[in-house]
Amino acid sequence: MWYTEDMDGQLVEKGRDDLRQLARRLSVLFPSLLSEENLRTGRLSVKSSSKHRCVSSAQAFQEGLRQARGGAGAEAEYIHEVDDELMRFFERCRGYVEGVENNRTALMEVEKFKHGEEMEGVRRRVAERLGLPPQRLTPDLLEAAFFLCSYELSIKSVHSPWCFLFDEDDAKVLEYQSDLKQYWKRSHGHVITGLSSCPLFHHVFRTLDKAGRPRRSTDALPEPASILIGHAETLLPLLSLLGLYKDKTPPTAANYNSQHGRSFRTSRIVPYAANLLLVLYDCQRGPRLQMLINESPVRFPGLKEDAPLYREVRATYRHLLDGCDFYRECEGRPSRGPNTEL
Ligand SMILES: *[C@@H]1O[C@H](CO)[C@@H](O)[C@H](O)[C@H]1NC(C)=O
Repeated sequence: MWYTEDMDGQLVEKGRDDLRQLARRLSVLFPSLLSEENLRTGRLSVKSSSKHRCVSSAQAFQEGLRQARGGAGAEAEYIHEVDDELMRFFERCRGYVEGVENNRTALMEVEKFKHGEEMEGVRRRVAERLGLPPQRLTPDLLEAAFFLCSYELSIKSVHSPWCFLFDEDDAKVLEYQSDLKQYWKRSHGHVITGLSSCPLFHHVFRTLDKAGRPRRSTDALPEPASILIGHAETLLPLLSLLGLYKDKTPPTAANYNSQHGRSFRTSRIVPYAANLLLVLYDCQRGPRLQMLINESPVRFPGLKEDAPLYREVRATYRHLLDGCDFYRECEGRPSRGPNTEL
């Protein structure tokens, strides 16, 4: 077993590489914004969660930006500011922690699916391949074997022997189990999950407001880019709050067979180095906002253009811009004082 205790919670080399390459691709897309010079002169802001792997990601991202310009000195300093209020809001939201995270009934669909007929089928087939009685394999062991298969593939780029335990249909069942878990734990399953990301939502729009505000020629230029580095658990609630990947029928333990075409597929939404980009363009009729998820354009719910006017995006989220009060939603009481957020 190559996976050792000390690797727990740390970024692996492959992960660093993912972040360096992401930074290089983005600096090619936005050369005047994500430039080595803007980084060197302190015009970019980098916020990270306090977790070691996030800080490592922040460093690797900056290495990528530097390398994009022919590789500056290795002794260069990295910047980052830890902000768990923004990047780990989920553990600070009591309504979420008590209502979802620590609440077994909130994840009932996952438990049911674990012991349902699809997983039973996987168990039977894997047991047969191993020549073991099926009762020796628990759903948790199957999940662990599937994780090992996917880790060895993603971290070491090998077709792991663990993967031979599963055929493609088995993998689809295990993928569904994982999507079910994310749906009920980190996404649309419970409204409070999306609402727990209100501080991040407001931060993002405040940053965009500032960047898009009309300026006199004497005013300082806005921040070229604001980089926030968090977790899949940070991104999923925010994407949910924005109304993305919300299928008509929620995935449950009972409807596996009708969910093959679902848009809620976490291996696509939050793969390693998952990213959400909000790009503001200075256009004739006013600023426009483009959203990219994992570097592909995605439309805002209800809006028909790839880069709609920023004011139309704001109109779409008016109810959240005017509300989405973290204290009210998470603690059941309004925040003290007037809402000075926007
Ligand atoms: C736990 O989740 C269930 C189902 O979503 C909900 O009805 C219940 O109120 C939750 N319990 C707590 C303590 O929040």
